[in-house]
Amino acid sequence: MRAVDLFCGCGGLSAGLIESGINVVAAYDYWEPALETYRRNIAAHSHRLDLSDVELTTEAIRRHGPDMIAGGPPCQDFSTAGKRVESSRANLTLAFSEIIEACRVPFFLMENVPQVRLSETYRAARERLESAGYDISEIVLDASRCNVPQARKRFFAFGALAGQSGAFLESVADRIADEPLTVKAYLGDEIDIEHYYRHPRNYSRRSVFSVHEPSPTVRGVNRPVPPGYKGNHLDSVSPSTVRPLTTRERSRVQTFPERWEWNAGDRNADAETQIGNAVPVALAEFVGQGILDAVA
Ligand SMILES: C[S@@+](CC[C@H](N)C(=O)[O-])C[C@H]1O[C@@H](n2cnc3c(N)ncnc32)[C@H](O)[C@@H]1O
Repeated sequence: MRAVDLFCGCGGLSAGLIESGINVVAAYDYWEPALETYRRNIAAHSHRLDLSDVELTTEAIRRHGPDMIAGGPPCQDFSTAGKRVESSRANLTLAFSEIIEACRVPFFLMENVPQVRLSETYRAARERLESAGYDISEIVLDASRCNVPQARKRFFAFGALAGQSGAFLESVADRIADEPLTVKAYLGDEIDIEHYYRHPRNYSRRSVFSVHEPSPTVRGVNRPVPPGYKGNHLDSVSPSTVRPLTTRERSRVQTFPERWEWNAGDRNADAETQIGNAVPVALAEFVGQGILDAVA
């Protein structure tokens, strides 16, 4: 199985697919700091390309003759309410479907936030792919039940021209763990704290978590405890006694291997963004196994 990864970022999805046994032959993104991280860690060739240019991208992909196009188009513009938010970013989901249709690869894999299912853009992309002959299966996976110590929910759509997408769902569903994986169970002695801070989206939410539960979703920013912050009644301990996870710890909670080298240039924030953007490596491996089972 030869795959191309679009919107590859720093390579979370690629690394996991490779781990499962899929041969990622090329990857594309337009953000240089993430591409540099990709190059430092993954042997597959990664290229800088604006993927909104469907014609140019299709031409580039065809040279590799892949069996599968995989990718996570940027997702920040899908609101949780699933309202219409048709912006240039959302349109990249449509571009992704146009590229798949034009290349007519036997398989595709799309990753996104669960809310994408409610969006007009995804509905249009799905319709286009179904009309092109793809049999599509969809699933939302909680990463903490797929070998990742993080309660991150992500949507996957797997499409197959020859109709094997149901087998993908069966393989994935069979392997979902009954119990969520905790940070401590995954990192063991690598983590020497009991509780940590994760900046909440708003202060009505909790911000302190125990290592004996899955971590909340690792996001693209990592903030310190604000001075004077008193915390929330749901916090596992008072925020005054804890620190945020380090960049390295966040990378490990995203299941990047210990040897992974981050390119932050002179902005650590760039590394944090790459980490938060990524598909957890072990989740991608889990999904990759489902694809290989279905194809077998
Ligand atoms: C959610 S991240 C992908 C993360 C990646 N799948 C991983 O597992 O590490 C989305 C990526 O899309 C890239 N991107 C956004 N617009 C793009 C465009 N027009 N052309 C190419 N890449 C683009 C961003 O640079 C970002 O790295």
